[in-house]
Amino acid sequence: MCSLLNFIAFFTVIITLAFLTIAPLYFIVNFDSKLNISTLVITDAVWKPVFGSEHYLIYSAYVESRTDKAEIRLIGTSHRDKTDQIFCKLWFEDDGVGRFELVEASKDLIQENWGRVYSASYFLCPLKNLTTIPSSVSLYTTFSQNVSSFSRNMEKFPKIKVQNRLESERVVQTGAPKLAACVPPLYNYSNAWTLIEWIEVNRLLGYDHFHLYLYSAAKNVSCVLNHYAKQGLVTILDWHKNQEILTLERHERNIRIMNLFAALNECLYRGMYKFRYLAFHDVDEFLVPQENLTLTKFMEKLEARHNDTAGFIFKNSFYFTHRPDDPDYKGPFDLITLRKTKRNQNFLAIHVRSKYVVRADVTEQVGNHNLYQAVKNFKMEANVDEKEASNRHYRFCDFYATTCNATTVQDRRMWDFQQQLVKRMEEVQRTIAVECQLKPLNRTVMLKK
Ligand SMILES: *[C@@H]1O[C@H](CO)[C@@H](O)[C@H](O)[C@H]1NC(C)=O
Ligand SMILES: *[C@@H]1O[C@H](CO)[C@@H](O)[C@H](O)[C@H]1NC(C)=O
Ligand SMILES: *[C@@H]1O[C@H](CO)[C@@H](O)[C@H](O)[C@H]1NC(C)=O
Ligand SMILES: *[C@@H]1O[C@H](CO)[C@@H](O)[C@H](O)[C@H]1NC(C)=O
Ligand SMILES: *[C@@H]1O[C@H](CO)[C@@H](O)[C@H](O)[C@H]1NC(C)=O
Ligand SMILES: *[C@@H]1O[C@H](CO)[C@@H](O)[C@H](O)[C@H]1NC(C)=O
Ligand SMILES: *[C@@H]1O[C@H](CO)[C@@H](O)[C@H](O)[C@H]1NC(C)=O
Ligand SMILES: *[C@@H]1O[C@H](CO)[C@@H](O)[C@H](O)[C@H]1NC(C)=O
Repeated sequence: MCSLLNFIAFFTVIITLAFLTIAPLYFIVNFDSKLNISTLVITDAVWKPVFGSEHYLIYSAYVESRTDKAEIRLIGTSHRDKTDQIFCKLWFEDDGVGRFELVEASKDLIQENWGRVYSASYFLCPLKNLTTIPSSVSLYTTFSQNVSSFSRNMEKFPKIKVQNRLESERVVQTGAPKLAACVPPLYNYSNAWTLIEWIEVNRLLGYDHFHLYLYSAAKNVSCVLNHYAKQGLVTILDWHKNQEILTLERHERNIRIMNLFAALNECLYRGMYKFRYLAFHDVDEFLVPQENLTLTKFMEKLEARHNDTAGFIFKNSFYFTHRPDDPDYKGPFDLITLRKTKRNQNFLAIHVRSKYVVRADVTEQVGNHNLYQAVKNFKMEANVDEKEASNRHYRFCDFYATTCNATTVQDRRMWDFQQQLVKRMEEVQRTIAVECQLKPLNRTVMLKK
């Protein structure tokens, strides 16, 4: 008898403990059953809050199957020091039935955040296996349950489309596009012609595609980007957030430069299996081999030399725009890469304003000037010799006089592109410039006076 009571007491304790452990999941499941799944909107590349959390935002979702554990990685933002309990609802809807699974999620800060209040982050949902991959994923907190009206709050429970799912996406076939650019977010950007020159020069350098994260830009810039997007050359990714959502990225004390680390790593995953190489740099920078060959060809040569390496670092070389134009430049247009041929003699050290190209399939995490993680068994980085190629950086000088008036040397490598570039710009004048009502591209003679 006594032993039976003991047994019952013991059993009650066990049940209680078990309940406490699974309680959050219980509430979530209970809450979940009230949601009419068919009305949830599937999104990709739109900032969304995680309902019930004041600390998390999510943007996109990818399968990560290259590490030891298979998981869905949501790209997002989180308060660096706050942790909310979160759950992933994995939707398996390819069969039309709408089966789902709830798993507990965790967050993982992307390494670089400069000690700001918010950090670019991954939210990780473990997968049981890779035979069945969810088509989309939602993120909940335990607090989500007390939302008063589900029907009025459907948009708060988005399903984020899971990408990089199919085996076929993982194969970069011969003849397929090879090289794409990943560019940090643009804010209030209005230099339409500079952007066009950057795109056209890079096309001549072999780039197949450009990913641009757009916080805000002048109308004419959006028009230009839309034009290239229609041709399939540009993916415009909306980086701005709704007013209701935290408007945190414009404040440097809140988050590092417009949340650029989220954009860079989002681009890494977005391009991972579509392109062999991803080049990470700004719209005033060009990664250019000294020999007259495309960056794609150059990367193939580098890869053959370092077949165990994920990333290749290009040293920064300044071509300051306050310096006089090359007096021998006689081309018809005012194009910065052709006019400015004086660079600072000294290249900056590796990782100081350097930019890089990665083999996307073996890179796991990146920063602004360097990589943070390569897939197992791959070396993270190799340095590119500046005699072979460098990051040509065209900008005004605003730091220290010693840099601004440092000794220069002449480098006319970009003149190799002159003929083709001028042809392209004439074509753009006839098409995009008309459509987007751009002021005519300056003629060089006007500039010289
Ligand atoms: C893989 O996981 C899915 C979803 O969890 C499950 O339905 C399926 O049975 C699993 N397959 C194998 C081989 O374990
Ligand atoms: C929802 O949960 C929060 C946190 O516990 C609480 O402060 C709030 O009053 C709840 N709202 C409702 C409608 O129950
Ligand atoms: C946007 O850029 C223009 C110059 O192109 C400047 O006059 C304006 O102040 C900027 N606006 C904001 C909000 O930064
Ligand atoms: C990489 O290069 C080494 C040495 O040239 C060679 O032995 C190895 O098979 C190559 N590995 C791959 C994956 O191509
Ligand atoms: C560089 O420029 C600064 C400010 O314009 C000037 O004071 C300084 O003397 C210059 N240095 C050299 C080496 O010319
Ligand atoms: C550089 O290469 C391009 C493309 O192959 C070619 O059109 C151009 O004439 C070359 N320029 C020089 C100076 O060799
Ligand atoms: C594009 O629009 C901006 C802002 O209205 C303007 O300052 C700029 O001159 C325009 N650029 C061209 C090339 O028309
Ligand atoms: C064209 O010339 C005008 C006047 O000199 C100048 O303000 C403008 O910045 C130039 N545009 C470009 C794209 O260089």
